[in-house]
Amino acid sequence: MKGNKKLLTVLNSLLADELTAINQYMVHSEMCNNWGYKKLRLDIRKQAMDEMHHAEWLIERIIFLDDSPTVSKLNTIRIGKNVLDMINNDSNDELEAVRTYNEAIKLAHEVGDEGSVALLTKILKMEEGHVEWAEIQRAQIAQMGMENYLVNQTEISAT
Ligand SMILES: [Fe+2]
Ligand SMILES: [Fe+2]
Repeated sequence: MKGNKKLLTVLNSLLADELTAINQYMVHSEMCNNWGYKKLRLDIRKQAMDEMHHAEWLIERIIFLDDSPTVSKLNTIRIGKNVLDMINNDSNDELEAVRTYNEAIKLAHEVGDEGSVALLTKILKMEEGHVEWAEIQRAQIAQMGMENYLVNQTEISAT
């Protein structure tokens, strides 16, 4: 099925964002692993997996809309040098993702592509979940202090 050209450009740009996020989160997750923050490692790794699903769904949609997915483009990867930098960098990127998915949904509505609206809305809700996760981490760091926060990240709780 032939897709709208302008929307396909946006879908490819979102794909570059997702591929960038996968790489950034994989590095952050393994840095946390290297520091022994097992819980934080798993949380960030789960987000990398979410972004991998998003990339896969966008690739699937772009191919369905008779275009070629661009998988060779990455944006700037922002690796944090400590846990707070990581969370802040990821949080900024997630806020940007919420903004760009909202814009893409608006465009998909305008060009009458409700199938893309449904997919983009599903991804948007997951990005909002990522923003919420970062806000929780920042609230905990502010309230309990970095050292106490990090102590809680060393072990995976049984619950
Ligand atoms: Fe994503
Ligand atoms: Fe995300």
